[in-house]
Amino acid sequence: MFKPISLVVLGLFSSAVAQLNTLAQAAGKKYFGTATDNPELSNTSYVAQLRNTADFHQLTPANSMKWDATEPSRGIFTFQGGDQIVALAESNRQLIRGHNCVWHNQLPDWVTSGSFDNATLLSIVENHCVSWDVINEPFNDDGTFRESVFFSTTGTSYITTALRAARAADSQAKLYINDFNIEGRGPKSTAMAQLVKQLQADRVPIDGIGIQGHLIVGEVPPTFAQNLQDLAGLGVEVAITELDIRMTLPATPELLAQQKADYETVIAACKAVDGCVGVTLWDWTGKFSWVPGAFAGEGAACPWDENFVRKPAFQGIVNGWVF
Ligand code: G3I
Repeated sequence: MFKPISLVVLGLFSSAVAQLNTLAQAAGKKYFGTATDNPELSNTSYVAQLRNTADFHQLTPANSMKWDATEPSRGIFTFQGGDQIVALAESNRQLIRGHNCVWHNQLPDWVTSGSFDNATLLSIVENHCVSWDVINEPFNDDGTFRESVFFSTTGTSYITTALRAARAADSQAKLYINDFNIEGRGPKSTAMAQLVKQLQADRVPIDGIGIQGHLIVGEVPPTFAQNLQDLAGLGVEVAITELDIRMTLPATPELLAQQKADYETVIAACKAVDGCVGVTLWDWTGKFSWVPGAFAGEGAACPWDENFVRKPAFQGIVNGWVF
């Protein structure tokens, strides 16, 4: 698993393009990966790169494993979309990150508008959680718990119920809680640490903390590496699960250079922290990034552009793994 870096560096300079997963594994990580979404799979050039295991050894379905897709009616499970991505990954020996089990977004109306009592909603959560990024975004930015239908009805019991149900369904899967704005030290990261400590004290299964990593060019938190170490120090895995670094358009050479440096900073932090097991891009090409649809006037967040051409950010990732 731990290949001498010098050999990798030699390989790097003797071949045309360095490869992101190869370098991540040479640095002792389990994987470098990317999110993808079912409609994208009809683009053959896109799929050819998605299947390139030298760059991507892990895939995350961006939408098709979410609750609205998998249990659109109570007790009626449909896994076609998720299964399509799992099949692609299995045929290509790529790992899968299940995303996600319990989130306040992309819920079907029957869950949000069902007016279920505590016991009923917990049984619904229990029935739904077979594995995966079990809890997604449980916190507000100030570290208080988010007022989702789950929290307002059950308090934090839904978290315990979901994690136990996921473990019961799959003893092998790594069970994560995943959130954003926990990249640097601060109230939300502290709240996540407290929650994990409490779960450990209560003997609730928890294997990892997912740090989403939806960042802005020039604004990687200065405490990123220390925070990663703090969270890994709790004795769980940490992973950067949804990395992209957006900018205000148009992309200038200066912004692209800063983005390259920012990608390098993030990857170098994961490399330096033993408990950081891998990094997943929230898709690899600007063509399919969620950013322009969510933030008007922003974009160019991925290491490949809309035409599948590598940007300076790609080299930033390479540098992060190598140096
Ligand atoms: O499926 C419908 C389609 O039928 C319709 O024609 C189309 C018109 O807008 O919408 C489609 O649904 C969209 C869905 O993605 C599938 O493409 C939704 O409008 C859109 O809101 C949804 O966005 C997703 C977003 O989560 C929802 O919150 C993004 O693709 C997905 O990348 C994003 O991912 C999240 C992570 O799960 C959690 N962390 C943050 C991250 C970024 O928001």
